[in-house]
Amino acid sequence: MRILPVSSPEDPAIAEAAAILAAGHLVAFPTETVYGLGADGLNPEAVARIYAAKGRPATNPVILHVADAASAQPLVSHWTPQAQALAERFWPGPLTLVLPASALVPAIVRAGGPSVALRCPSHPVALALIRALGRPLAAPSANRSQHLSPTTAEHVASSLGEAVDLILDGGPTTAGLESTILDLSGQSPRILRPGPIPPAELGEILGPVEVWAGSVGTDETQAAPGMLARHYAPKARLELVAPGTGVRKAHGRMVYVALGALPRLPDGVFGLLLPLEAEVVAMRLYALLHELDDAGYEVIFMEQPPETEAWLAVRDRLRRASTQEHP
Ligand code: TXA
Ligand code: MG
Repeated sequence: MRILPVSSPEDPAIAEAAAILAAGHLVAFPTETVYGLGADGLNPEAVARIYAAKGRPATNPVILHVADAASAQPLVSHWTPQAQALAERFWPGPLTLVLPASALVPAIVRAGGPSVALRCPSHPVALALIRALGRPLAAPSANRSQHLSPTTAEHVASSLGEAVDLILDGGPTTAGLESTILDLSGQSPRILRPGPIPPAELGEILGPVEVWAGSVGTDETQAAPGMLARHYAPKARLELVAPGTGVRKAHGRMVYVALGALPRLPDGVFGLLLPLEAEVVAMRLYALLHELDDAGYEVIFMEQPPETEAWLAVRDRLRRASTQEHP
């Protein structure tokens, strides 16, 4: 595995990465949300390598990344006015649209299902890579299945190791949490995974949007990744507590993550303060959990964020990361 720094869309590393992809191999790359593990999305053997590298169940479909709405259209059986309006407003950006797939989309990308998830990322390196490949880029988050998503090239390297051929290092990602997934393949639009684009912004185009809150087991075809109850999880045990709760005494190596104000903590408990700002916490969350894991903490207490819509995506990831049972 090699790591190549990329500073601009003109960097020669991008042509090299595209050649690796065109030959059916894997390249990890930065997006504005998290790092993706990319393969040629129209080559089933290449996509199979993604599943093998991640240890991902064959029942979990992958997103196809495209350079623009025009390249998305041949991948769906019916490009709707709604999809067009959403793409015009939010692409490139952290919105994934689920639509009925066309015959061009390999079964392995869809996990055998009838629909395909499409996203046009806004990161200049991701866009340049898709353009250089000239085909849709299949990419889940570049981590082993059920582990924390990577927001830096180092996170990718430590999670996937030799399973990835090349990592393009574009520095830390900015949004920090995975894209909002919107299902447009059913009767009415439904958010399958909350993300950086909140329901209210989608609502400006769609009217009221349902947020799906269910959870299914590993052996069914999943409507979205977050539908595994435990996901996005650190190695440490994560416990959510009411703001200001603090902890009474230290047991083992524990850390307390406060939002907005740090309560008094007993000796031996490491306190960490994050601002009460959803976008900042979203950007920092995975990197923080990676750091706390690397530092060997056994228990992470974290204050429950406010129940407002701005915190929806952060609350979703924290709820999954704090679920103890493995499905
Ligand atoms: O921000 C993101 O979306 C990142 C970056 C790399 O683009 N990607 C990402 O991929 O989070 P992944 O695979 O970790 O999560 C995407 C999820 C899949 O787990 C899958 O459950 C869901 O999208 N998905 C993919 N295709 C789908 C489909 N046809 N219908 C419903 N859900 C789908
Ligand atoms: Mg993922």
